[in-house]
Parts: sequence; structure tokens; C-alpha cells
Amino acid sequence: MTTEQDPVKLMKQQVGFAAADRVKSGMIVGLGTGSTTAYTIQALGDRIKSGQLKDIKGVPTSFQSEVLAKQYGVPLTTLDEIDRIDIAIDGADEVDTHLNLIKGGGAAHTREKVVDCLAAQFIVVVDSSKMVDKLGSTFRVPIEVIPMAIAPVTRAIEKLGGKPELRMGIRKAGPVITDQGNMVIDVQFDNLDNPVELEKTLNNIPGVLENGLFVNCTDLVLVGEIKDGKPVVREIFKQS
Ligand code: 5RP
Repeated sequence: MTTEQDPVKLMKQQVGFAAADRVKSGMIVGLGTGSTTAYTIQALGDRIKSGQLKDIKGVPTSFQSEVLAKQYGVPLTTLDEIDRIDIAIDGADEVDTHLNLIKGGGAAHTREKVVDCLAAQFIVVVDSSKMVDKLGSTFRVPIEVIPMAIAPVTRAIEKLGGKPELRMGIRKAGPVITDQGNMVIDVQFDNLDNPVELEKTLNNIPGVLENGLFVNCTDLVLVGEIKDGKPVVREIFKQS
């Protein structure tokens, strides 16, 4: 099957490109992590090369997005050099009906939360399989933990009723190591009824750097769907 025929890839490509169209010249742009935002970074590079987009700067949320930005010619900056982010575009692993998210499938949620939640406008780009009624239905909550605290954090999570599992590398022996040099515990919560409270509770455990619950941060979700055999983009705006 080619890339063009894979419906999930088609949906990701469609929303990734649609999000890039919302970036205007002069903007500072948070560059998300993952396979969907890879299309956004590619499209930003194309728009810069064609002269359509001028004077933008990207703030990467991971080593991956930094590499892609360099590959596609998107100029980069850091949070030390700027005092605002105009727009951030990022993927998600789950989006609920309140536009709260689970992120961290790529273990990049710590930097992603800093950049995405700082942005004046945060746009989430997902294919339709990521939309859920309730967070935790299809994806576990990733928690970045400093390595020396893995054992006590694991016990604290179990006390909260979660089922933790240390994330292991694929084609790499041992655990996944984040861009910050930490580890990730994926936690299943059978009753994730209150993501607002759980986000705070998890971050209060000593040794936890950040968790993948993003609450009250999203402004707009672009959902890729297949209609009549063709990929289309549905917009869901935050209710004010
Ligand atoms: C990385 C993330 C990604 O944004 C999330 O996993 C979605 O990835 P993809 O666009 O590849 O489905 O949170 O930490």
C-alpha cells in the first residue's frame, strides 16, 4: 500500500497541511512532534521556499521537530530569545469533547506542554481515530520521571489506582530515554473522570517532571476525516 492510499496517513497529511496554512508571515510558531506535525513542518518549509511565507521562526518541541525544521528550511529560535509564541501546532493521542488531550506518544509531552500552552493559539491536528468521549479510553497517560525516582513514583501511581508500566525502547535495549534524559511511565487509569485534578495530582508526586494530560490549553482541533473516499478537515473550536 502506498502512502497516498493509506487513509490514516491521508488524514494526517490533510490536517497537517491545513494547519500550516494558518501560519502568517512574521509569526513565531510552536512546532509539534509526531507524524502529523511532520507534514505541517514540511508544508511550512514549502511555503517559505515559494516566498509565500516570510520571516517566521519555529520553536521546536523535540529533537525530532528540530531535525525536521532544519531539513525543510524552517528557521528556529528558542524560548530565551522570544517573549511570545503566536501559534503552536501539535498532534495528540486522544482528544475529548472538552478538547482536553492525552499527549506523549512520542515521549515529548514535557516540552510540548511548555510550548503549546504558552502559545496565543494552540491548534491540535489529529486523524479521526483520536477523538474520544472520555480520556483514557484508548491511550494510557504518559508520565516523564527522573530516573532515580522511578521506584517511588511507580508506587505512588499504584496508590492512586493507576496501572504503571515503564516504556521500553523499540529497536533499542532498555527503557525509552526522553530528550531531557528521563524515563516515561505509561499509566492506565480505569476511571479518568477528572483530568483537571489528575493532571495536578500527578505533577505533585516528587520525581515527576510532567504528565501527558493537557487541560484547558487547546483553542482549535483540526480533525482529518474520510468523506466519500476523500480526506476532509473538520474544525472544532473551543467553546467560550
Ligand atoms: C508526541 C505527541 C504526538 O503529538 C502524539 O503522539 C501524536 O503523534 P502522531 O501525530 O504521530 O499521531 O504527543 O509526544
